[in-house]
Amino acid sequence: MKGDYNISGFATRAIHAGQAPDPTTGSVTVPIYQTSTYAQERVGQNKGYEYSRTHNPTRTALEECIASLEGGADTFGLGFASGMAAINNLMYLARPGDHVVLSDDVYGGTFRLFDKVLANYGIEYSLANLADLERAAGKFRATTRFVWLETPTNPWLKIIDIRQVAEMAHNYGAKLVVDNTFASPYLQRPLELGADVVVHSSTKYLGGHSDVVGGLMVTKDRDLRDQVAFHQNATGAVPGPFDSWLVMRGLKTLPVRMRAHGENALAVAKFLAEHPKVEQAIYPGLPSHPQYELAKQQMDGFGGMVSFIAKDGYEAALEMVSRTKIFTLAESLGGVESLIEHPGAMTHASLAGSPIEMHPGLVRLSVGIETIDDLLKDLEQALA
Ligand SMILES: Cc1ncc(COP(=O)(O)O)c(C=O)c1O
Repeated sequence: MKGDYNISGFATRAIHAGQAPDPTTGSVTVPIYQTSTYAQERVGQNKGYEYSRTHNPTRTALEECIASLEGGADTFGLGFASGMAAINNLMYLARPGDHVVLSDDVYGGTFRLFDKVLANYGIEYSLANLADLERAAGKFRATTRFVWLETPTNPWLKIIDIRQVAEMAHNYGAKLVVDNTFASPYLQRPLELGADVVVHSSTKYLGGHSDVVGGLMVTKDRDLRDQVAFHQNATGAVPGPFDSWLVMRGLKTLPVRMRAHGENALAVAKFLAEHPKVEQAIYPGLPSHPQYELAKQQMDGFGGMVSFIAKDGYEAALEMVSRTKIFTLAESLGGVESLIEHPGAMTHASLAGSPIEMHPGLVRLSVGIETIDDLLKDLEQALA
């Protein structure tokens, strides 16, 4: 399945990596290999595939494509049934007594996995504000095996210095895992900055059309990838061929979509920053963002996510998110259509009662690629 031509630019790799025309028919798109099993010539003699829980050619093509986008030639991809499956499978490598430094601003489901599931298996975690590494240093232990972060963070859009955290993690002999869902490899490539593993909810920008749930992982270390693949095969959280194909189709337009998301998000953030009903607009592309300079250095753009704090608190925020007409009130993000949500009541509800409970007036927008004037008018009427 590997393209044998020299493909180097990001947009070219997004369309072609792992996806040479099908050798049997010339099909330009990778076929959806809707099969559970593969014929063997003799026992143990096959064409590289035995059973679709272990691998599937459509999934292989997607894995080669994401590996190429995240890190180039010497990285290894693995596809999963969901982002949470990718995260969970990686954590099968942890043992009882191992410790994880977990960024204090992660997707609520990730926090829930560490807090309510992995804790039962003896895997310990400490929350840390990794945007303030000096203070976070006290959270590291001799048993720290993984450091886990998202940047931009979800939903506060803090920017964490990947290079610095990677250095600190490596000093402790720990691996740095970056959930790159918000930025996508088009805007940020953590492996180039020292991270050891990248995970994705491909449900979001990579799929890009809110029509598939999936997860991906990319590592620099073949052995690490193989260990996770072993656990995945043993436990079974694999993506189906059609879902793999949908994510791959989404990847082909990732560069154009990310540019359009970024343009619209900046316009929305500027609009919110000026609005009298908004206490604070949060977007890494606003010069008022505390890590604007770091975002400019670390990223090739600022992405499509914008958060803001509504001035009149919880009730006003809940009311406002129900009034938009183009921004659909829904969980998730990263699709072509704009979404709005209240993290405290929706995506991050599982943090209630934890040390990282959400601000009651916080609203999160996934800014889509619709006509910007329509988006601004919609927010204007909802905030009125
Ligand atoms: C940053 C981030 N990581 C991981 C996940 C989990 O991914 P999935 O819903 O595909 O399991 C999400 C879901 O919203 C997310 O926002």
